[in-house]
Amino acid sequence: MNTVFETALANKHVVIVGGSSGMGKATAKLALTLGAKVTIASRNTAKLEAAATEIGSAVQVSTLDMTDEVGVKAWAGKLGRVDHLVISASSAAHGTFTDLPTDQLRSMFEAKFTGPYVTARQVLPSLTDGGSITFFSGVLSRRPSVGATGLGAVNAAVEALTKGLALELGGRARVNCISPGMVDTEAYKEMPQQARDAMYDEVGGSLPVGRVGQAEDIAQAVIMAMTNDYLSGAVLDVDGGHLVRA
Ligand SMILES: NC(=O)c1ccc[n+]([C@@H]2O[C@H](COP(=O)([O-])OP(=O)(O)OC[C@H]3O[C@@H](n4cnc5c(N)ncnc54)[C@H](OP(=O)(O)O)[C@@H]3O)[C@@H](O)[C@H]2O)c1
Repeated sequence: MNTVFETALANKHVVIVGGSSGMGKATAKLALTLGAKVTIASRNTAKLEAAATEIGSAVQVSTLDMTDEVGVKAWAGKLGRVDHLVISASSAAHGTFTDLPTDQLRSMFEAKFTGPYVTARQVLPSLTDGGSITFFSGVLSRRPSVGATGLGAVNAAVEALTKGLALELGGRARVNCISPGMVDTEAYKEMPQQARDAMYDEVGGSLPVGRVGQAEDIAQAVIMAMTNDYLSGAVLDVDGGHLVRA
């Protein structure tokens, strides 16, 4: 017997910008398993191909840099019908208020706010009526951390975009945002393993659920946001209880 998710996603076209890594890749895997037609996009073609090998040969890959508006427009024009758009791509910059260089602050807004804004706008004409858009923010918007004030602000901007766009689109399409807490993904691959494990232990130990997230935890929430017809304008805190930790 089909699950509710299989029924909702069978033969739907799910496009995931950021699908070559982390939570986007886990979402692509799950959506494919549930019968969707899946396209993943990101900048690095070799990374996309490696991800496709891992996800399954049925996944389509498509090279895209969200910060290049002309390129985004050309890319969106070739997608065909899109039922669900997910944008998990971003890059983050860390630094205290006085130390974070302004060019890094601007690049982060470009990659995590303006890029998703422009990408959603260019895909909108191809989005089916009743489709969905899912953005990604992060727990720092409402639970700040020293050295991440800029990142918290960009997350808050994505959440405001979600709510405003959900209102503007009304019945045309639903718009939601996933706000993850700390999730074990390739985003931390540059850290030495020992330091990374220590960070996961420390943060995980401070959370009500007692661990940091896995990409699959978030993928389940993205599928729910895509398929629940009564969810729009929502920010889903999939964070292991980070917002209520001591
Ligand atoms: N991991 C965490 O602990 C955490 C916590 C809170 C919030 N978040 C947020 O959750 C989302 C997913 O995070 P993640 O950890 O899954 O990320 P990730 O593993 O670092 O993956 C990021 C993806 O974005 C793509 N990308 C980056 N810049 C791009 C651009 N300009 N155009 C197109 N694609 C681009 C990357 O591929 P290419 O390099 O090939 O472009 C990659 O596929 C992000 O918005 C992140 O800020 C993460």
